[in-house]
Amino acid sequence: MTSVHHVEQAIGAARLLPVVVLEDAAGAEPLAAALTAGGLRSVEVTFRTDAAAEAIRIMAENPELLVGAGTVLSPAQVDAAVEAGAKFVVSPGFSPAVVERCREAGLPVYPGAATATEIHMALDAGLSIVKFFPAEQIGGAKMIKALAAPFRSVRFIPTGGVNTANLPDYLALGAVFAVGGTWMVAPDLLAAGKWDEVTRLTAEAVALVAKGGK
Ligand code: 3PG
Repeated sequence: MTSVHHVEQAIGAARLLPVVVLEDAAGAEPLAAALTAGGLRSVEVTFRTDAAAEAIRIMAENPELLVGAGTVLSPAQVDAAVEAGAKFVVSPGFSPAVVERCREAGLPVYPGAATATEIHMALDAGLSIVKFFPAEQIGGAKMIKALAAPFRSVRFIPTGGVNTANLPDYLALGAVFAVGGTWMVAPDLLAAGKWDEVTRLTAEAVALVAKGGK
């Protein structure tokens, strides 16, 4: 099994986590190829569509890609994610039941925590990396900076409303573990099979990370 350490290393090194909403699992294989061609090695596939489990199964067959499940809202979905081959779990909010089931399954979990109280709950649950969602709408990079001051050990995965224009603001913060979003895998690009565009946007984001977010 992929270790927690390996998962954290992979996501933390890239500092980017594309959030995929795939309506048709037929796109899973070309999408995996498009992301790796753009220089990314990890991806979150959300349980927002019926195609999610099958898409995870297909993408997880790509040995270059670390595939996680997103929008996981229940212990049953944790089980479905594990069964499909997901190597980590992301959820929009903090659910003790989801966190517990991930722990039982030995799967790293990044639950949403967007207030001081929620972050404190995540710490109590033994977690130190949380999703910060919806990032732009709840205060963006400034809010993370303020929360990181008291919660010095916590790292954030801001997601929601991030694009190439505001990405550097997040990357500039040491408390930002990785930045998530759909901008390089926008649902309309996936629906139209515009894989070259996915690769171009992915490579552009990877280059921004390499420049240190400047
Ligand atoms: C998520 O689930 O993390 C968000 O819906 C992604 O938000 P974005 O589409 O604004 O990037």
